[in-house]
Amino acid sequence: MHSINQRIDFLRESLKNLRNTGSIAPSSRFLCKNMADKIDTARAQVVVELGAGNGVITSYILDRLRPDARLLIFEINDAFVDKITQKFDDPRILLIHDSAEKMGKHFEKHGITHVDYFVSAIPFVMLPEAVAQNIIGECLRWLKPGGQFIQFHYSRVLVNYYKRIFGNATVDFVALNMPPAFIITCEKTSGK
Ligand SMILES: C[S@@+](CC[C@H](N)C(=O)[O-])C[C@H]1O[C@@H](n2cnc3c(N)ncnc32)[C@H](O)[C@@H]1O
Repeated sequence: MHSINQRIDFLRESLKNLRNTGSIAPSSRFLCKNMADKIDTARAQVVVELGAGNGVITSYILDRLRPDARLLIFEINDAFVDKITQKFDDPRILLIHDSAEKMGKHFEKHGITHVDYFVSAIPFVMLPEAVAQNIIGECLRWLKPGGQFIQFHYSRVLVNYYKRIFGNATVDFVALNMPPAFIITCEKTSGK
């Protein structure tokens, strides 16, 4: 359960940056756990979280990762970056205060050659189309064959778009979230 202070902090940041934040409350534990449970611990060497906010999903991702795995986090909001820095002291995390659009530059700098899982909460529906396309294209590019892109939205509006890009998409519905959410999971197949 999120504390009242966490909710108020999140609401304050959301109202300042509604377009980038895309919601007024952090994801519920049901949504966070459902997303993180899609990660297969045995195969997760490099996991990338996009749009971590105050780190609610991050905690569940870390629970799924081996001690030698890496978690790279992209977040653009200053207050959320501070929050994540205070909240986690975990050597597996590399927090990058930059837009997910720039992921390639950071991967090269840190010797990342592939990604096993992207876990994303970026509200692509609210972003300029070119920015959304750029980030999703980068995810496809950096995913290892068999790797997965896991994204939540509050509607199914982009499901067909993801199907076109990745060639597949499965959808889970999580009722216990405010608002209820859809988790879209796409796998990078060898032809992509
Ligand atoms: C809906 S909030 C999700 C926060 C948290 N993961 C959760 O589930 O409650 C979306 C987050 O994406 C971040 N964000 C938006 N555009 C981004 C971008 N281009 N690169 C990295 N983070 C971005 C926002 O700052 C915000 O923290």
